[in-house]
Amino acid sequence: MVLKNTNIILSGADPEFISEDMNEAITQILTAGQELAELVTGLAEQRQANQADDLVSALATANIDGEQLTPAELASFFILLVVAGNETTRTAISHSLALLTEHPDQRELLLADFEARIGPAVEEIVRCVSPVIWMRRTLTSDAVMNGHAYREGDKTVLFYQAANRDESVFPDAMTFDITRSPNPHVGFGSAGPHFCLGAHLARREITAMLRELLTRVPNIRASAEQVTPHVRRKPSRA
Ligand code: HEM
Repeated sequence: MVLKNTNIILSGADPEFISEDMNEAITQILTAGQELAELVTGLAEQRQANQADDLVSALATANIDGEQLTPAELASFFILLVVAGNETTRTAISHSLALLTEHPDQRELLLADFEARIGPAVEEIVRCVSPVIWMRRTLTSDAVMNGHAYREGDKTVLFYQAANRDESVFPDAMTFDITRSPNPHVGFGSAGPHFCLGAHLARREITAMLRELLTRVPNIRASAEQVTPHVRRKPSRA
């Protein structure tokens, strides 16, 4: 149920997950959010009655200077967490197999010293894949960037994959190089209060999955063309 609902919320109008009829799609998104909210608020009630050693108990009973999360806040945090944690890592992991298939030299390099190279390799995978394509932000103050003036309240879109292909930051930006150093990619966002909360978990998931896949099934290869056009990672000049 969680997987189905997070897929609907992140579908981006992909007909594999959501209706092409706009009204129906809106209902599907609202229902998905509601089902997830009911799941966590129900769990929170149980945990308030019987505290356990788990995340929902911690969230449901957290009390900072007398302030607690309301059920609505708990629900939106939970939805953010499961949505953000689901699509991102599976996209990174599937693309990593495609990248290692397309670049046998990099695969060989990784396997020659997996434990030493997997750390930088994961960063390069996240840079090249940029699983989160964009985020919409509202400016909290006036700013000038690259000669463009922006005003407080302006709505902006951050294109992570464009930033991660910036030739002025990354030499040979289109090259997949697991030894790239330094690698100041912004695939998890840039330093600040909204930097990805799950970055360490994501790095660990990708590492664990590649370690097991490449040792248990050493000949595994991506065998088909990537099917979803929006995940073809090309630089954006938008
Ligand atoms: C490769 C995997 C992942 C990528 C590429 C990724 C990327 C991102 C990006 C770009 C942001 C926005 C940062 C910003 O606004 O500056 C973000 C935020 C966030 N991510 Fe991730 N993420 C990944 C995995 C995860 C996982 C596994 C979790 C949790 C289980 C997670 C939880 C979150 C949360 C809760 C936020 C919101 C943080 C906030 O606004 O305070 N992410 N992530």
